[in-house]
Amino acid sequence: MYKEPGKTKFQIELRRHLRAQDIPDDLVHLICEIAEACKYVINAVRTGDLGVAGTSNLYGEEQLALDVLSDRIIKKRLIHSGVVCNMVSEEMDEIFHVSDERAGKYSVAYDPLDGSSLVDVNLAVGTIVSIYQGCDLMQEGSRQVAAMYILYGPRVSLVYTVGNGVHEFTMNHLNEFTLTRENVTMKPSGDIYSPGGQRNKYLPGVEKYVQHLEAKGAKLRYSGGFVPDINQVLMKGKGLFMYPMLNGSPNGKLRLLYELNPMAYIVEQAGGAASTGTCRILDIKPESLDQRAPVFIGCSEDVELAKEFLNAQ
Ligand code: AHG
Ligand code: MN
Ligand code: MN
Repeated sequence: MYKEPGKTKFQIELRRHLRAQDIPDDLVHLICEIAEACKYVINAVRTGDLGVAGTSNLYGEEQLALDVLSDRIIKKRLIHSGVVCNMVSEEMDEIFHVSDERAGKYSVAYDPLDGSSLVDVNLAVGTIVSIYQGCDLMQEGSRQVAAMYILYGPRVSLVYTVGNGVHEFTMNHLNEFTLTRENVTMKPSGDIYSPGGQRNKYLPGVEKYVQHLEAKGAKLRYSGGFVPDINQVLMKGKGLFMYPMLNGSPNGKLRLLYELNPMAYIVEQAGGAASTGTCRILDIKPESLDQRAPVFIGCSEDVELAKEFLNAQ
């Protein structure tokens, strides 16, 4: 447990907590820069026009869709951070090169605004970030050096790992991220499940697995936003999120680089597991930027059981 003389754990700011980890100063700087950028993303989510890209606002200025605006905010911050080599986001068609390896020590893959279609109905959304050392973004997720997400809900929270546990921070009245939970851990098995995709497109094994979960009393809790849905499973410490393979979509919906790898790293760090049903998410070597994979992620025994049901089908 992080302790600083004269301070309770509720006053520990993100930067201080990061400095107490065994990581380079540049990585501390990068994570803090992303956290800063997200303060502008929150502002856009809270008050920005819910426009469609290409339309104009009251003043005749071009309006940006919130996901495009969020992408620009984070991209600009990363460019000016001074420690980034390459970056890529869900909104980009190709890798954006910033500087060579001597100057840019890290590369970042991110989803600037996950669940952007939920903003107009005022549901929770988030930003998801994956960080690698060096310039290579096409590496297995197990090689991430940090992962984090920021959840824009009734409160704003930030959850990160640098490979030494999972820690949650909440934004206070001064817009600072202060420590609220350190070393978040998941139980082996849970009683909530969060299932994406149309159920009538589930394969027989997935359908049987869901019936098994329901029979053992698991409750359905699904918001349609990956960040709040994962945050619920993680912070309650008991449950499973899935976006399985569907009839007609063998790779499900969620993207490996921007969504699955960072969440898998965080959930594994909390003692959970993340699998496609046949292999560990973090072991997949990406072949394309927009690669998708089915996912079962959460309590380790529940993920294991999903694999058994899929194998048996
Ligand atoms: P994005 O808004 O970045 O395209 O991703 C949305 C994702 C994710 O938030 C959620 O888990 C999933 O889409 C929900 O999909 P369904 O509407 O098919 O359930
Ligand atoms: Mn997304
Ligand atoms: Mn998105």
